[in-house]
Amino acid sequence: MGDVPVEIRVNGDLRTAIVAPRVTLSDFIRERCGLTGTHIGCEHGVCGACTVLLDGEAVRSCLVFAVQADGQDVTTIEGMGGPDGGLSPVQEAFRHCHGLQCGFCTPGFVVSVTAFLRDNPEPTDAQITDALSGNLCRCTGYQGIVAAVRSVSGRGS
Ligand code: FES
Ligand code: FES
Repeated sequence: MGDVPVEIRVNGDLRTAIVAPRVTLSDFIRERCGLTGTHIGCEHGVCGACTVLLDGEAVRSCLVFAVQADGQDVTTIEGMGGPDGGLSPVQEAFRHCHGLQCGFCTPGFVVSVTAFLRDNPEPTDAQITDALSGNLCRCTGYQGIVAAVRSVSGRGS
């Protein structure tokens, strides 16, 4: 199969390209769009570092081909901030609650947590733990990340 034209709206900007069918959405985002905040850790769906929103749903962009995202909306970590360019409430909470150390995993966590809290604005601790289980952090004990999620959900840290 030859190369395929795609049109993907990324953070509100329409991106058009001709891609090989094997090109992943994560590579498309990083290499074709120059948006390197989407990190690539495992490249097989385990670590969650590559998480983006695809038509609003959190997906692992290393497991999605760019051609599968044709005609859809993608939001990356670069699109998570407020309209004034400031930090989103989730980003602010991660900073405030020390929810990061090296930061490699952080974009994936922020995207996952943003979608999670949109769908579950008042989660229980068990729901938070379950929601975070799809993102791996090699640096922290997760306490800061859990505290960040709690604080955004209005339950304090
Ligand atoms: S790089 Fe996609 S889940 Fe790890
Ligand atoms: S802060 Fe380093 S991997 Fe999570």
